[in-house]
Amino acid sequence: MMKDAATGPESAVDGISFRRLRTSEIPLIHRWLNTPHVARWWYEDVGTLEEVEERYLPYIEGKAGVEPHLILREGTPIGYIQTYPLSADEEYAKLVGVEDSAGVDLFIGEPEFLYKGLGPNIIRRFLEGIVFSDGRYETCIIGPEPKNESAIRAYGKAGFRYFKTIHVPEEPEPEYLMKLTQEEFFEG
Ligand SMILES: CC(C)(COP(=O)(O)OP(=O)(O)OC[C@H]1O[C@@H](n2cnc3c(N)ncnc32)[C@H](O)[C@@H]1OP(=O)(O)O)[C@@H](O)C(=O)NCCC(=O)NCCS
Repeated sequence: MMKDAATGPESAVDGISFRRLRTSEIPLIHRWLNTPHVARWWYEDVGTLEEVEERYLPYIEGKAGVEPHLILREGTPIGYIQTYPLSADEEYAKLVGVEDSAGVDLFIGEPEFLYKGLGPNIIRRFLEGIVFSDGRYETCIIGPEPKNESAIRAYGKAGFRYFKTIHVPEEPEPEYLMKLTQEEFFEG
């Protein structure tokens, strides 16, 4: 049987795939950012639809260093995941202190898909297919709030290990940094 190139070899397990966010989908991002389970933990204030457009349009247009993707399950959008070179933000990169690193942030927007074990698979598939696919990065960093125990647990299951806690000056909460190297990822 022919495999669907967009979903890859693990598609039979969880049906997860990714594609770049489109301008017409910014209202969906706005809706998800307004759900209580995302608003509680996402690092940005939600704002109006216009404000969300202002933030996400440069990502879509490739002007901000952030690569925005939808998380699809069986072809249907269920969440959002983004990656960026840490070097794009000099101050943040200095605080993290790991060279050749990518950052990743994500949320599952549709509540019925939370806490079913999808998160760790989403992250591993994203690392395999996008972050670590072309040798651009040695390491991936993810920075939940220390109180976000569900995220820390999910990232641990994806292979990330605690690294250090940092205080980003403009952020109200610290970041509990977790890291995974490309070598660990492909050996693990
Ligand atoms: C973080 C996130 C991506 C993890 O994905 P997930 O598919 O939900 O992860 P899992 O199913 O592996 O669950 C992770 C942990 O949540 C905890 N959990 C289970 N049910 C829960 C519930 N009802 N409420 C809160 N936490 C719960 C469990 O500890 C679970 O791990 P364990 O059962 O293996 O011990 C997802 O929960 C999410 O998008 N959350 C909201 C936004 C967010 O926090 N984003 C991250 C910002 S850094």
